[in-house]
Amino acid sequence: FRYFTYLWRFTYLSVIGGSAYLAYGVWELRHPEEQFEPDPSKKNLVILGTGWGAVSLLKKLDTENYNVIVISPRNYFLFTPLLPSCTTGTVEHRSIMEPIRSITRHKRAAVKFYEAEATKIDPERKTVRIDDNSDVKGASNNTEVSYDMLVVSVGAENATFGIPGVKEHSCFLKEIGDAQQIRKKIMDCVETATFKDQSPEEVERLLHMVVVGGGPTGVEFAGELQDFFDQDIKKWVPEISDKFKVTLIEALPNVLPMFSKQLIDYTESTFKEEKITIKTKTAVKKVTDKTVEAEATGPDGKKSIEVMPYGLLVWATGNAVRPVVKDLMSQIPAQKDSRRGLAVNEYLVVQGTKDIWATGDCAVAGYAPTAQVASQEGAFLARLFNTMAKSEAIEHKIHDLSTSLNLKPGNSGEVAVEIESHEKKLRRIKDLKPFHYTHQGSLAYIGSERAVADVSWLNGNFATGGGLTYLFWRSAYLSMCFSTRNRVLVVLDWLKSKAFGRDVSRE
Ligand code: FAD
Ligand code: NAI
Repeated sequence: FRYFTYLWRFTYLSVIGGSAYLAYGVWELRHPEEQFEPDPSKKNLVILGTGWGAVSLLKKLDTENYNVIVISPRNYFLFTPLLPSCTTGTVEHRSIMEPIRSITRHKRAAVKFYEAEATKIDPERKTVRIDDNSDVKGASNNTEVSYDMLVVSVGAENATFGIPGVKEHSCFLKEIGDAQQIRKKIMDCVETATFKDQSPEEVERLLHMVVVGGGPTGVEFAGELQDFFDQDIKKWVPEISDKFKVTLIEALPNVLPMFSKQLIDYTESTFKEEKITIKTKTAVKKVTDKTVEAEATGPDGKKSIEVMPYGLLVWATGNAVRPVVKDLMSQIPAQKDSRRGLAVNEYLVVQGTKDIWATGDCAVAGYAPTAQVASQEGAFLARLFNTMAKSEAIEHKIHDLSTSLNLKPGNSGEVAVEIESHEKKLRRIKDLKPFHYTHQGSLAYIGSERAVADVSWLNGNFATGGGLTYLFWRSAYLSMCFSTRNRVLVVLDWLKSKAFGRDVSRE
């Protein structure tokens, strides 16, 4: 009975503590403190992008030390790990978006935001050309911004390898608009397939959902799509039950190459159970509006061409360098051998430049292009810039004290002690170690309420897959969401889709 009382008290206190934490989170989000204007004599720190790298930098940066200007065509941060769930409505898109205005408004010193695309960086003149590419344009929609320090964190675009027809006919999965387009197209295919007098071949084509790329994006999307069909579409449109088909095409011998062999096998067997067809050693060579043409390598090494009619095609074959980054690289001789983005040193300084740093998918620092890496790099830069500002302030102080020593030699003892203490502080501050990435593991959802996880644990690796891993996946991503608001909305979406099913209306 005593244990029961303890347990009850513990639960009671946890609920009260949790609710208070939640209430404080909500209150704080709605009531930012007064901000002060940045000092115009401070350096212009320009940050390009509002993704993982940029926002992680912004979150930890003491903005009172600089004139911070953020430039991005997207006025929100996007929590990409839950983007595949948006394609089927398991999670609503606004639940994983955090307005950049809310992030900048919570900083101590005001931060400027320009919704624009950086189109040209001039490292000689230290300027960035920016274009407002939104639908509403004012008289001023293209100008230049000067920087003293620049952080390039513009991410990457979708790789298509110049394969004919990909850009014209595929859906990608990188931005909110992509997820919305996919969600609409899934239901369009279903409704068109059930149109009066549709031929059996056309029904088969329309209900064939093809995903190209067996990396985590392709795998997670295929899993979500099959869930949507099994748990919802099938119920409301039973006549297509045996015709809906998901095929995942991968050029390499297996999917999820970054996961351990055991988890690759688990994923492949789960897909088999879910009736998702995996075609490995199959490289797509051409895409038309209705077919995908791929070269398959058989077990005997013989190559054959396969033509697959499709209704929806989702292209997820990784990253390519953005034009603004390519252009910057072409201006810097030290970048001539870099292919996948801006080569950076161990302090994330773009090699061959001064005062330009890069983070995330557009930087080549020897790590995979993941949110984990981008956010650790952003946090590192915030520490670096905070340290630089502090050390500059101390250097000024030392300079002022040394000057006063010359002017008032009477106080020399006290001043010398003060100078020494500042110099000590300065040495400590300047002792910032280079960037070091700590890998916390890889997680991926594979459908039917199962996930795979390769987690780093006490200097070892721990591989697991299944229903419990799925709960771990959910709790890990929930805790990583940007704000309390995002967390609450995501939980409500999960509950909503569980209770009422996903919405099958085509918006
Ligand atoms: P992004 O987050 O892409 O941000 C780039 C920013 O730059 C955006 O705000 C963009 O609008 C802006 N921008 C673009 N062009 C310009 C320009 N010319 N000028 C100014 N701004 C510009 N990683 C994980 O670790 N775990 C996961 O579970 C995971 N899931 C993912 C799921 C999906 C569907 C996808 C697509 C990716 C996933 N990733 C995951 C990878 C992760 O999202 C990226 O590695 C991460 O977003 C990289 O951060 P970034 O800041 O470099 O770029
Ligand atoms: P990816 O680069 O990881 O995988 C793309 C896959 O497409 C590769 O396996 C490649 O062999 C294949 N491919 C390329 N061309 C092809 C063709 N013509 N035909 C057939 N297959 C082809 O790309 P993805 O999945 O978009 O991920 C990008 C980055 O984001 C990665 O670093 C990934 O780790 C990260 N990410 C992480 C997630 C997670 O941790 N859960 C989820 C999504 C992305």
